Amino acid sequence: MSNFLNKKNNYKKYVVDSKLRYFKPHATKVEKSFAEEITSSLTQNSKFINPKFFYDKKGSDLFELICLLPEYYLTRTEISILKNFQSSISLYVDMNTNLVELGSGSSVKTRLILDILTKLQPKTEYFPIDISEILTESSEQLLNDYDTLHITGIVDSYERGLEFLKNYDDKKNLILFLGSSFGNFTPDIGKLFLDNIFSTMKSGDLFLIGLDLVKDNNILESAYDDSQGITSKFNLNVLSRINDELDADFNIDNFSHYSLYNETEQRIEMNLRSLVSQSVIIGKSNMSLNFNQDELIHTEYSHKYHISQIEKLLIDVGFEIKNMWLDDKKYFSLTLVSKN
Ligand code: AVJ
Repeated sequence: MSNFLNKKNNYKKYVVDSKLRYFKPHATKVEKSFAEEITSSLTQNSKFINPKFFYDKKGSDLFELICLLPEYYLTRTEISILKNFQSSISLYVDMNTNLVELGSGSSVKTRLILDILTKLQPKTEYFPIDISEILTESSEQLLNDYDTLHITGIVDSYERGLEFLKNYDDKKNLILFLGSSFGNFTPDIGKLFLDNIFSTMKSGDLFLIGLDLVKDNNILESAYDDSQGITSKFNLNVLSRINDELDADFNIDNFSHYSLYNETEQRIEMNLRSLVSQSVIIGKSNMSLNFNQDELIHTEYSHKYHISQIEKLLIDVGFEIKNMWLDDKKYFSLTLVSKN
């Protein structure tokens, strides 16, 4: 208990109204700034940009458009699986279940789970964990639509947010990690991430993870290189963000979207290709970068899995697999695991 109080003291509680509040860490973060991370990742021999930086306002809007693309089957397929198994989730939760989500998520998916939880129990508490501000508009919308819902946002990294929740109350936590976001991690980082999640879970807690499956190369490649060029805009937007926020002078016309499926590594590899030999100034960091013609900036991995690999991965962490749901075409998977 005292341990919990200590932890709680590291966070400041902001009460928006009787059903909406959030916790934010007091301490100024030890994490590197956008400028520091970009400066370091663009001065390596193999230049890269962390995909977490895609999501400024423009990037988040573009990602919403990606989710609607005919080629981008992931979101729509995951939603269809959620709709199908929606009712069977009640077999695994009890009448004292908190919903925790890594990322503030698409409220479409969250709602499919909330539909069930709010029918099962008199009161439901939803904890979105996200480093960026928890979207208050969509929270207000959720609260309007679900009378018995309470929202407690945690503005922090997933790991620290879960650690904070560990001793929050005695209720069972159902933790959602949807959209194949896990696919951004390389296998070793992904394993560490899952170990971390596992260690912050109480016995009886549940974890639901959505992962994209290996399939025909053409289907995978068009999902990340659509005919309307939205994914290209999404990828290039990170350079505009660096221009805006770090006072840089990337000429967007001198870069192009380049993505391919690496069959051996089972991942989509997204890059930005420098079309000419050029130098770019990053004003905020007082530096100039050189790019050779055809040099790549790596921006994202999106790993794809075989069902047997998903099972092995989760079992190796220590989870017990409760169930796995797939769509008819076996394009996408949702796996429910527990810590015993
Ligand atoms: C949000 C990481 C799951 O990898 O499919 C979509 C991001 N990048 N199109 C994915 C993304 C290009 C997406 N995730």
